[in-house]
Amino acid sequence: MMLVHTVNEVREQVKKWRSEGLSVGLVPTMGFLHEGHQSLIAASVKENDRTVVSIFVNPTQFGPNEDFEAYPRDIKKDMALCDETGADLIFNPEPEEMYPDGFCTYTNITGMSDALCGKSRPIHFKGVCTVVSKLFNIVCPDMAYFGEKDAQQLAIIKRMVKDMNIPIEIKGCPIVREADGLAKSSRNTYLSASEREAALILSKAIFAGRDMVKAGERDAKKVVEAMTEIIKSEPLAAIDYVEMVDVETMQSIDVIEGNILCAIAVKIGKTRLIDNFNDIIHQASP
Ligand code: PAF
Repeated sequence: MMLVHTVNEVREQVKKWRSEGLSVGLVPTMGFLHEGHQSLIAASVKENDRTVVSIFVNPTQFGPNEDFEAYPRDIKKDMALCDETGADLIFNPEPEEMYPDGFCTYTNITGMSDALCGKSRPIHFKGVCTVVSKLFNIVCPDMAYFGEKDAQQLAIIKRMVKDMNIPIEIKGCPIVREADGLAKSSRNTYLSASEREAALILSKAIFAGRDMVKAGERDAKKVVEAMTEIIKSEPLAAIDYVEMVDVETMQSIDVIEGNILCAIAVKIGKTRLIDNFNDIIHQASP
Protein backbone atom coordinates (compact mmCIF):
# COMPACT_ATOMS: atom_id res chain seq x y z
CA MET A 1 0.00 0.00 0.00
CA MET A 2 1.27 3.47 -0.92
CA LEU A 3 1.03 6.67 1.15
CA VAL A 4 1.21 9.85 -0.95
CA HIS A 5 0.75 13.52 -0.11
CA THR A 6 0.47 15.34 -3.45
CA VAL A 7 -2.12 15.60 -6.18
CA ASN A 8 0.51 14.75 -8.83
CA GLU A 9 1.47 11.51 -7.10
CA VAL A 10 -2.18 10.37 -7.02
CA ARG A 11 -2.68 11.33 -10.67
CA GLU A 12 0.47 9.45 -11.78
CA GLN A 13 -0.57 6.28 -9.96
CA VAL A 14 -4.18 6.36 -11.15
CA LYS A 15 -2.95 7.00 -14.72
CA LYS A 16 -0.78 3.89 -14.48
CA TRP A 17 -3.71 1.78 -13.22
CA ARG A 18 -5.94 3.12 -15.96
CA SER A 19 -3.35 2.22 -18.60
CA GLU A 20 -3.51 -1.34 -17.26
CA GLY A 21 -7.32 -1.31 -17.64
CA LEU A 22 -7.98 -1.35 -13.89
CA SER A 23 -11.05 0.17 -12.20
CA VAL A 24 -10.65 2.54 -9.24
CA GLY A 25 -12.77 3.11 -6.13
CA LEU A 26 -12.44 6.13 -3.82
CA VAL A 27 -13.25 6.30 -0.10
CA PRO A 28 -13.07 9.94 1.07
CA THR A 29 -12.46 10.22 4.83
CA MET A 30 -11.16 12.61 7.46
CA GLY A 31 -9.18 9.81 9.11
CA PHE A 32 -9.30 8.42 12.67
CA LEU A 33 -10.81 5.43 10.93
CA HIS A 34 -13.19 3.00 12.61
CA GLU A 35 -15.24 -0.02 11.52
CA GLY A 36 -17.70 2.28 9.68
CA HIS A 37 -14.91 3.53 7.39
CA GLN A 38 -13.56 0.01 7.18
CA SER A 39 -16.88 -1.21 5.75
CA LEU A 40 -16.62 1.47 3.00
CA ILE A 41 -13.04 0.44 2.18
CA ALA A 42 -14.04 -3.25 2.14
CA ALA A 43 -16.93 -2.49 -0.24
CA SER A 44 -14.60 -0.57 -2.56
CA VAL A 45 -11.96 -3.34 -2.48
CA LYS A 46 -14.65 -5.87 -3.38
CA GLU A 47 -16.09 -3.86 -6.26
CA ASN A 48 -12.98 -2.23 -7.80
CA ASP A 49 -9.52 -3.40 -8.91
CA ARG A 50 -7.83 -0.63 -6.92
CA THR A 51 -8.95 1.45 -3.90
CA VAL A 52 -7.81 4.94 -2.94
CA VAL A 53 -8.58 6.21 0.60
CA SER A 54 -8.24 9.95 1.12
CA ILE A 55 -7.45 11.09 4.65
CA PHE A 56 -7.84 14.83 5.01
CA VAL A 57 -9.38 16.85 7.82
CA ASN A 58 -10.99 19.41 5.57
CA PRO A 59 -10.82 22.91 7.11
CA THR A 60 -13.50 24.42 4.84
CA GLN A 61 -16.29 22.24 6.26
CA PHE A 62 -15.75 23.38 9.88
CA GLY A 63 -17.35 26.55 11.21
CA PRO A 64 -15.29 29.05 13.26
CA ASN A 65 -16.36 27.57 16.62
CA GLU A 66 -16.26 23.95 15.60
CA ASP A 67 -13.72 21.20 16.31
CA PHE A 68 -11.28 21.49 13.37
CA GLU A 69 -8.20 21.76 15.60
CA ALA A 70 -9.42 19.14 18.09
CA TYR A 71 -10.57 16.65 15.42
CA PRO A 72 -8.78 13.36 16.25
CA ARG A 73 -5.88 12.31 14.00
CA ASP A 74 -3.85 9.07 13.95
CA ILE A 75 -2.29 8.40 10.55
CA LYS A 76 -0.28 5.35 11.72
CA LYS A 77 -3.38 3.56 12.99
CA ASP A 78 -5.29 4.62 9.85
CA MET A 79 -2.54 3.21 7.62
CA ALA A 80 -2.70 -0.14 9.41
CA LEU A 81 -6.49 -0.31 9.03
CA CYS A 82 -6.34 0.61 5.31
CA ASP A 83 -3.59 -1.92 4.70
CA GLU A 84 -5.34 -4.78 6.44
CA THR A 85 -8.61 -3.98 4.60
CA GLY A 86 -6.91 -4.10 1.20
CA ALA A 87 -6.64 -0.42 0.18
CA ASP A 88 -3.94 0.31 -2.42
CA LEU A 89 -3.19 3.98 -1.85
CA ILE A 90 -3.76 6.59 0.86
CA PHE A 91 -3.89 10.22 -0.24
CA ASN A 92 -3.03 12.34 2.81
CA PRO A 93 -2.48 15.92 1.62
CA GLU A 94 -1.53 18.97 3.67
CA PRO A 95 -4.14 21.78 3.69
CA GLU A 96 -1.88 23.87 1.36
CA GLU A 97 -1.94 21.08 -1.23
CA MET A 98 -5.74 21.18 -1.36
CA TYR A 99 -6.13 24.93 -0.79
CA PRO A 100 -3.07 26.71 -2.20
CA ASP A 101 -2.66 30.48 -1.86
CA GLY A 102 -5.30 32.32 -3.84
CA PHE A 103 -7.84 29.47 -3.71
CA CYS A 104 -11.28 31.00 -4.30
CA THR A 105 -13.48 28.49 -6.16
CA TYR A 106 -16.17 26.63 -4.21
CA THR A 107 -18.80 24.03 -5.04
CA ASN A 108 -22.13 24.81 -3.46
CA ILE A 109 -25.54 23.21 -3.47
CA THR A 110 -28.63 25.20 -2.61
CA GLY A 111 -31.77 24.19 -0.73
CA MET A 112 -30.82 20.71 0.41
CA SER A 113 -27.83 22.07 2.30
CA ASP A 114 -29.93 24.56 4.31
CA ALA A 115 -31.99 21.82 6.03
CA LEU A 116 -31.10 19.58 9.02
CA CYS A 117 -27.35 19.95 9.81
CA GLY A 118 -27.15 22.96 7.48
CA LYS A 119 -29.28 25.03 9.91
CA SER A 120 -26.66 24.96 12.67
CA ARG A 121 -23.66 24.40 10.34
CA PRO A 122 -24.32 26.93 7.53
CA ILE A 123 -20.99 26.54 5.68
CA HIS A 124 -20.57 22.82 6.25
CA PHE A 125 -21.93 21.40 3.00
CA LYS A 126 -20.23 24.03 0.85
CA GLY A 127 -16.94 22.79 2.34
CA VAL A 128 -17.92 19.14 1.88
CA CYS A 129 -19.01 19.62 -1.76
CA THR A 130 -15.85 21.61 -2.51
CA VAL A 131 -13.44 19.03 -1.12
CA VAL A 132 -15.37 16.05 -2.50
CA SER A 133 -15.53 17.56 -6.01
CA LYS A 134 -11.78 18.27 -5.80
CA LEU A 135 -11.13 14.66 -4.72
CA PHE A 136 -13.31 13.43 -7.59
CA ASN A 137 -11.26 15.53 -10.03
CA ILE A 138 -7.95 14.40 -8.52
CA VAL A 139 -8.68 10.65 -8.38
CA CYS A 140 -11.30 10.31 -11.17
CA PRO A 141 -12.67 7.10 -9.63
CA ASP A 142 -15.34 4.84 -11.13
CA MET A 143 -17.12 4.60 -7.78
CA ALA A 144 -17.02 6.56 -4.52
CA TYR A 145 -18.20 5.30 -1.12
CA PHE A 146 -19.93 7.24 1.67
CA GLY A 147 -21.54 6.17 4.95
CA GLU A 148 -25.30 6.34 5.44
CA LYS A 149 -24.77 7.80 8.93
CA ASP A 150 -24.11 11.11 7.17
CA ALA A 151 -27.37 10.73 5.27
CA GLN A 152 -27.71 14.39 4.31
CA GLN A 153 -24.13 14.44 3.03
CA LEU A 154 -24.78 11.30 0.98
CA ALA A 155 -27.99 12.76 -0.54
CA ILE A 156 -26.21 16.04 -1.33
CA ILE A 157 -23.27 14.31 -3.01
CA LYS A 158 -25.63 12.16 -5.09
CA ARG A 159 -27.42 15.36 -6.16
CA MET A 160 -24.15 17.17 -6.92
CA VAL A 161 -22.94 14.29 -9.11
CA LYS A 162 -26.26 14.24 -10.97
CA ASP A 163 -26.47 18.02 -11.42
CA MET A 164 -22.84 18.41 -12.54
CA ASN A 165 -22.79 15.30 -14.78
CA ILE A 166 -19.88 13.81 -12.84
CA PRO A 167 -19.31 10.29 -14.22
CA ILE A 168 -18.89 8.56 -10.83
CA GLU A 169 -21.23 6.05 -9.21
CA ILE A 170 -21.99 7.00 -5.59
CA LYS A 171 -22.42 4.11 -3.20
CA GLY A 172 -23.98 4.47 0.25
CA CYS A 173 -23.01 1.89 2.90
CA PRO A 174 -25.08 1.04 6.01
CA ILE A 175 -24.47 2.58 9.44
CA VAL A 176 -22.12 0.47 11.57
CA ARG A 177 -23.02 0.44 15.28
CA GLU A 178 -21.33 -0.50 18.52
CA ALA A 179 -22.77 -3.63 20.19
CA ASP A 180 -24.98 -1.40 22.39
CA GLY A 181 -26.40 0.56 19.42
CA LEU A 182 -24.31 3.76 19.33
CA ALA A 183 -23.47 4.65 15.72
CA LYS A 184 -19.71 4.51 15.12
CA SER A 185 -18.19 7.97 14.76
CA SER A 186 -14.70 9.42 15.07
CA ARG A 187 -16.27 11.99 17.42
CA ASN A 188 -17.32 9.27 19.93
CA THR A 189 -13.75 9.55 21.22
CA TYR A 190 -14.64 12.97 22.73
CA LEU A 191 -17.19 11.37 25.11
CA SER A 192 -16.44 10.86 28.81
CA ALA A 193 -17.67 7.62 30.40
CA SER A 194 -20.94 9.19 31.57
CA GLU A 195 -21.46 10.94 28.21
CA ARG A 196 -20.81 7.64 26.38
CA GLU A 197 -23.62 6.11 28.43
CA ALA A 198 -25.89 9.11 27.77
CA ALA A 199 -25.14 8.96 24.02
CA LEU A 200 -27.13 5.73 23.81
CA ILE A 201 -30.22 7.92 23.85
CA LEU A 202 -29.67 8.65 20.13
CA SER A 203 -29.95 5.04 18.98
CA LYS A 204 -32.73 4.42 21.51
CA ALA A 205 -34.77 7.21 19.89
CA ILE A 206 -33.87 6.06 16.37
CA PHE A 207 -34.89 2.45 17.05
CA ALA A 208 -38.16 3.58 18.70
CA GLY A 209 -39.02 5.83 15.73
CA ARG A 210 -38.11 3.13 13.24
CA ASP A 211 -40.32 0.62 15.11
CA MET A 212 -43.28 3.03 15.07
CA VAL A 213 -42.95 3.41 11.28
CA LYS A 214 -42.55 -0.36 10.86
CA ALA A 215 -45.71 -0.85 12.93
CA GLY A 216 -47.62 1.37 10.48
CA GLU A 217 -47.50 4.90 11.96
CA ARG A 218 -47.74 7.37 9.06
CA ASP A 219 -48.02 10.66 10.96
CA ALA A 220 -44.51 12.19 10.90
CA LYS A 221 -45.32 14.55 13.78
CA LYS A 222 -46.25 11.67 16.10
CA VAL A 223 -42.98 9.84 15.42
CA VAL A 224 -40.91 13.01 15.83
CA GLU A 225 -42.71 13.84 19.10
CA ALA A 226 -42.18 10.36 20.53
CA MET A 227 -38.48 10.45 19.63
CA THR A 228 -38.11 13.95 21.06
CA GLU A 229 -39.61 12.78 24.39
CA ILE A 230 -37.15 9.90 24.58
CA ILE A 231 -34.15 12.19 23.96
CA LYS A 232 -35.42 14.75 26.48
CA SER A 233 -35.45 12.04 29.16
CA GLU A 234 -31.63 12.12 29.09
CA PRO A 235 -30.34 15.08 31.17
CA LEU A 236 -26.99 15.27 29.29
CA ALA A 237 -28.67 15.50 25.88
CA ALA A 238 -29.51 18.77 24.09
CA ILE A 239 -31.47 18.40 20.84
CA ASP A 240 -30.30 20.22 17.72
CA TYR A 241 -33.02 18.66 15.56
CA VAL A 242 -35.32 15.65 15.20
CA GLU A 243 -36.86 15.67 11.72
CA MET A 244 -38.62 13.52 9.19
CA VAL A 245 -37.79 14.58 5.62
CA ASP A 246 -38.02 13.46 2.02
CA VAL A 247 -34.61 12.00 1.20
CA GLU A 248 -34.40 13.61 -2.24
CA THR A 249 -35.24 17.17 -1.19
CA MET A 250 -34.45 17.20 2.56
CA GLN A 251 -37.80 19.01 3.06
CA SER A 252 -39.95 18.14 6.10
CA ILE A 253 -42.89 15.83 5.49
CA ASP A 254 -46.22 15.42 7.31
CA VAL A 255 -47.16 12.01 5.94
CA ILE A 256 -44.65 9.17 6.06
CA GLU A 257 -44.62 7.97 2.49
CA GLY A 258 -42.01 7.41 -0.23
CA ASN A 259 -38.27 7.51 0.43
CA ILE A 260 -38.11 9.02 3.91
CA LEU A 261 -35.25 9.96 6.20
CA CYS A 262 -35.70 10.44 9.92
CA ALA A 263 -32.59 12.25 11.16
CA ILE A 264 -31.46 13.56 14.53
CA ALA A 265 -28.59 15.68 15.80
CA VAL A 266 -28.03 15.81 19.56
CA LYS A 267 -25.34 17.37 21.68
CA ILE A 268 -24.06 15.19 24.50
CA GLY A 269 -22.05 17.63 26.56
CA LYS A 270 -19.95 19.46 23.96
CA THR A 271 -20.06 16.61 21.43
CA ARG A 272 -22.56 16.85 18.58
CA LEU A 273 -23.68 13.42 17.36
CA ILE A 274 -25.97 12.42 14.50
CA ASP A 275 -28.00 9.31 13.70
CA ASN A 276 -30.86 8.38 11.38
CA PHE A 277 -33.05 5.77 9.80
CA ASN A 278 -34.12 5.65 6.19
CA ASP A 279 -37.05 3.69 4.76
CA ILE A 280 -39.10 3.42 1.61
CA ILE A 281 -42.79 3.44 2.50
CA HIS A 282 -45.22 2.40 -0.19
CA GLN A 283 -48.61 4.03 -0.20
CA ALA A 284 -51.27 1.72 1.28
CA SER A 285 -53.68 0.56 -1.41
CA PRO A 286 -57.19 2.03 -0.94
O1 PAF B 1 -17.70 12.30 5.85
C1 PAF B 1 -16.56 12.78 5.97
O2 PAF B 1 -15.69 12.23 6.63
C2 PAF B 1 -16.25 14.09 5.26
O3 PAF B 1 -17.33 14.95 5.29
C3 PAF B 1 -15.73 13.89 3.82
C4 PAF B 1 -16.79 13.28 2.92
C5 PAF B 1 -14.50 13.00 3.83
C6 PAF B 1 -15.34 15.24 3.23
O4 PAF B 1 -14.35 15.86 3.96
